[in-house]
Amino acid sequence: MTKYEGKKYYQSEKVAKKYNTQYEGKLSLRNFRIRLIGKFEELKFKGFLKKVPKNGKVLDIACGTGRYTRILLQNKFIVTATDISKEMIEFTKKNSHGLEGLADIKIADAAKLPFKNNSFDGITCIRLYQRVPHSERVLMLKEIKRLSKDWAIVFFGLENSFLRIRNKVRRFFIKGRPSNPYPATREEMLSEIESAGLKFIKGSWVFPGLASGYISLIDCR
Ligand SMILES: C[S@@+](CC[C@H](N)C(=O)[O-])C[C@H]1O[C@@H](n2cnc3c(N)ncnc32)[C@H](O)[C@@H]1O
Repeated sequence: MTKYEGKKYYQSEKVAKKYNTQYEGKLSLRNFRIRLIGKFEELKFKGFLKKVPKNGKVLDIACGTGRYTRILLQNKFIVTATDISKEMIEFTKKNSHGLEGLADIKIADAAKLPFKNNSFDGITCIRLYQRVPHSERVLMLKEIKRLSKDWAIVFFGLENSFLRIRNKVRRFFIKGRPSNPYPATREEMLSEIESAGLKFIKGSWVFPGLASGYISLIDCR
């Protein structure tokens, strides 16, 4: 399996705590921008969730601190949550406390998941693929094909000519961790989905034209 920065980065208590305060608890000037983007992203996600059959068994891959695990539980799905980081998973446990329907939480690599074929009705995977190189992403999509009987909702970090220039300018002025280290064009995303044996149903930019986040609804049958 390939090595990439996003696989190790979150396996730290400090990083997990920081990620959690970005989305949970008190609103502050520091977390305002990210919280606002997060809310738009969650709204888009909930829109897609309305299009899939209710009450099924769902696997939330790369659950992180449990932002989407919680939304799935609130929508009455039976949820199994997985992530490669034990530190992030601890927050998923805390953040989903008191909600019914959490079947299991496991440490697992999205490219090799410890479940039998067709174990789930649906799969969600938000904010992982933009941090994963192309070949590994296809392996992860093949795991989705193997495990989901019906649907998947997946977040991709896309790039177009405008975003490519914008990101170059941004990287020149703002140093630090890139937010979309392994971008794909929309065509590349479609070809990755197809090469994993999946079918793209529909998709939507989180902030059309302004940011790289794109959520796809996928047919896994
Ligand atoms: C940016 S966080 C997103 C968390 C959550 N889905 C959300 O949207 O808030 C990315 C997560 O992917 C996890 N991750 C990275 N590589 C992974 C892999 N190969 N398998 C499973 N999880 C992975 C990290 O540990 C981290 O929790």
